[in-house]
Amino acid sequence: MCDMGHAHDHQHFGFLVDTPEIRALVAETQRLTAAIDEVPARVEALRPAFARLLASDGWLPESCAQPDEKSRMGGGIGQYALYRAEDGSLCLFSLVVPAGASTPVHDHLAWGLVGIYRGRQDETVYRRLDDGRDPSRADLEIAKRQELGPGEFYTLLPPTDDIHYVRTISDAPSISIHLLANDTACVWRHRFEPATGVVTPFRSGYANAPCRDVE
Ligand SMILES: [Fe+2]
Repeated sequence: MCDMGHAHDHQHFGFLVDTPEIRALVAETQRLTAAIDEVPARVEALRPAFARLLASDGWLPESCAQPDEKSRMGGGIGQYALYRAEDGSLCLFSLVVPAGASTPVHDHLAWGLVGIYRGRQDETVYRRLDDGRDPSRADLEIAKRQELGPGEFYTLLPPTDDIHYVRTISDAPSISIHLLANDTACVWRHRFEPATGVVTPFRSGYANAPCRDVE
């Protein structure tokens, strides 16, 4: 489930955590993806189903709610796949950020919804000022900051507001739930250093499932 264990390859896709609550959100996402071509309208229509998952209790195993000392993101941050489409078109994962820890500044490269399940996070969103032509450089300025608590969520509609980092501001680790239209932890994304403008390739990896072309 949420440890790497000795699962076979087919167990690394589909419902890694199989509960009615997770199945309901994935089914609704598949239904709305088929029904609504316009991504902003589709994401908007997904809000009630996503809010329902955040408001439900008992569906997230304790093993997917733990910091990960071997984290590739650093800071003990744990990223646990809950659902992964075989074709890389959708994933649902939990992100556990210990108290006081921050993610790197990163992008997502897919539409999605991100919400707080436990604890509190401070989110800092960046605006890109350059044209993005140089893959190793980005000129960033802070576009907005917001605090989020349990049940609160935001949408991702790249390229708008796609670069951010989050920091846990609660005494306990924060747990956020992410529904994204890619296989987020296995996609090569970008890590940014706003102070210097340096951009580096970034792949976070799941704590409980390998990416196809490594490991
Ligand atoms: Fe993020």
